[in-house]
Amino acid sequence: MCDINQKISEIGVVPVIKLNNPERDAANLAKALCEGGVPVAEVTFRAAGADIAIRLMREACPDMLVGAGTVLTTEQVDKALSAGAQFIVTPGFDPELVAYCQEKGLPIYPGCTTPTDYHAALKFGLKVLKFFPAEQSGGLAKIKAMSAPFPMFKVMPTGGISLKNLKEYLSCPVICACGGSYMVTADLIDNNKWEEIIELCKKSVEIVKEARSNG
Ligand code: 3PG
Repeated sequence: MCDINQKISEIGVVPVIKLNNPERDAANLAKALCEGGVPVAEVTFRAAGADIAIRLMREACPDMLVGAGTVLTTEQVDKALSAGAQFIVTPGFDPELVAYCQEKGLPIYPGCTTPTDYHAALKFGLKVLKFFPAEQSGGLAKIKAMSAPFPMFKVMPTGGISLKNLKEYLSCPVICACGGSYMVTADLIDNNKWEEIIELCKKSVEIVKEARSNG
C-alpha cells in the first residue's frame, strides 16, 4: 500500500472541508484536527480559495496530510499541487484526471459507485477508491456487494456518514477510512467552535479503535 493510502487508513476518518474564509480559519482548523487525533483533511474546491486553505493548513501543521477534494479539472490539480496537496479526490471517475495525477505521482481517489466505475479504476491500477455519495448510492450493502467481483479495492465512503453510522461502516474490512463533514460543519467553523471540533475528532478516533478491535 502506498504511504499516503497507509496513513489515511491508519487515521480512519477524513474530514471533508469547505472553508469560506481560509485566511481566518485554515490554520486554526488544522490545529484542531491534529489535536483531536485526525491529522488529515480533504479540502474541497467547492469554495474559492481552496488552494490557499491547503497551503495554510500545511504551513500550520506540516505533519498533517492535506488533500484536495471536489477536483474537476486539471487546472485545479495544478493549483492543489502547487499549494502542497498530497492527494486528490474527485466526485466521479474522470480518466483524464486519473491519468494526469498518475503522471505526476499524485495519489488520486476517484468517486466510484458502479461496476463500470470499478472496471475503469482497475484499468488504471488504482487500489483505493472514494465511494461517493455513499448513503445515497446504496451504502454499506452496495459496498459489500461490489466487493464480491472486485475484492482488490479498498474504499473510502463519503456522503451521509456521521458518528451514528461510522462504526458500522468501519467494521467492514473493505473500508479503509470514512470521509465526512460532520466534524467540520460550516456552523462549527464559522463560529470558532474549535473545542467541539476537537471533541468530535476524538470521538471519531475512539470509534475507529472500537471498530478495528472488534474486527
Ligand atoms: C463529500 O464531498 O465527500 C461529501 O459531500 C461529504 O458528505 P457529508 O457532508 O454527507 O459528510
